[in-house]
Amino acid sequence: MAFDLHAAIGKLAGFNDERAGTGVTREVYTPTYRRAIAWVADRMREAGLEPRFDAVGNLLGRWPGTDPDAPVVMTGSHVDTTLDAGRFDGVAGVLGAVAAVHRLRAEGVALRRGIEVVSFAGEEPRFGTGCVGSRAMAGGLGRADLDRLTDRDGVSMAAALTDAGFDPGALGEARLDPARVHAFVELHIEQGAVLETTGDDVGVVTAIAAPHDLRLTLRGRAAHAGATPMALRRDALAGAAEILVELERLARASPSGTTVGTVGVLRVEPGAVNVVPGRAELEVDVRDSDLEAREATVRALLDAAIAIGAHRGLEVEVAEMVRDDPVRCAPHVVEAVAAAAAELGVAAREMTSGAYHDAMVLGAAGVPVGMVFVPSRGGVSHHPDEHTDPDELDTGVAVLAGALRRLAA
Ligand code: HGY
Ligand code: MN
Ligand code: MN
Repeated sequence: MAFDLHAAIGKLAGFNDERAGTGVTREVYTPTYRRAIAWVADRMREAGLEPRFDAVGNLLGRWPGTDPDAPVVMTGSHVDTTLDAGRFDGVAGVLGAVAAVHRLRAEGVALRRGIEVVSFAGEEPRFGTGCVGSRAMAGGLGRADLDRLTDRDGVSMAAALTDAGFDPGALGEARLDPARVHAFVELHIEQGAVLETTGDDVGVVTAIAAPHDLRLTLRGRAAHAGATPMALRRDALAGAAEILVELERLARASPSGTTVGTVGVLRVEPGAVNVVPGRAELEVDVRDSDLEAREATVRALLDAAIAIGAHRGLEVEVAEMVRDDPVRCAPHVVEAVAAAAAELGVAAREMTSGAYHDAMVLGAAGVPVGMVFVPSRGGVSHHPDEHTDPDELDTGVAVLAGALRRLAA
């Protein structure tokens, strides 16, 4: 049956909880997500893949190879989204993988290695840490983490898993043996503006930057906004603002030139216009493909936070949220992607991924990984205007199919 990738992307975008914005919100394990992932399983079935869910809700569809003992070639991404997001982040790599399987079947190739298409659960950080599905596969999550990881409403990953019909106690069954995987290739939108700027058709990813995320809690003293002289204040939000500006300065000054620093979440209490904030909580995201530069930035930020706290009479509490190592893609996977692009006469450029992906987690666990990037219009992502042209996506699928054919031979 013919598979219309672009119609499928539009249909998947319809599984959407977003009410305020114009984008897509489909967080992992929610009822909307569960309907969406069941729909994706049907698309896998149509492509002749045998879909199954693992213990944490990763969806895997296998196309057996002629040699059942040969380590498989995995490909895929995620279909959960962050908030008020676009319709391509992750989806391009799951439905694109289904399209690539249809393409390879139409070519009549008999592949020695099995191909496993995966839609990872929870790539986006609903629970504060992203890639929870691939972390479970990689053995990076323990049962206690499922209780510790909670979303903005205090719902734990364990509770969300249980609601979705999974057993948190079965977490260990999701474990993947890296030796059973010959390669993992992920098709993904670039989410930046490099390809659009250079005019290349695809990105051949050689390394993936990784996050070091922290939650900083500043405690001062709530006070009357009118009756409290400036000199007597311990204003937690003013301290948070100083830290935020220092993070930006440090990231810009980082010697690697590729360090990025963001505060995407700021919670203020009590949150009344006439009360000096007594408490402020910042979620800090620092990333780089250069680990040393990233860690130097984090250390400098924490030193600054302590000095700012001392100067303003604020208590500063630091909690680690996530800390991953940057990953280099495996040469044989990078080569397969580059060769597939060359065979198609497609303009390809080697590049680093600034965003993290499940490929980062699998790579850190010893799976040889690689990625194929397609352009993002205006470099926009995690936003309703996220867009990749259909022909650009088709090119990415053709390169992915070529890479899979090489790796599965
Ligand atoms: O944040 C990221 O890099 C990914 O898009 N979740
Ligand atoms: Mn994302
Ligand atoms: Mn993504």
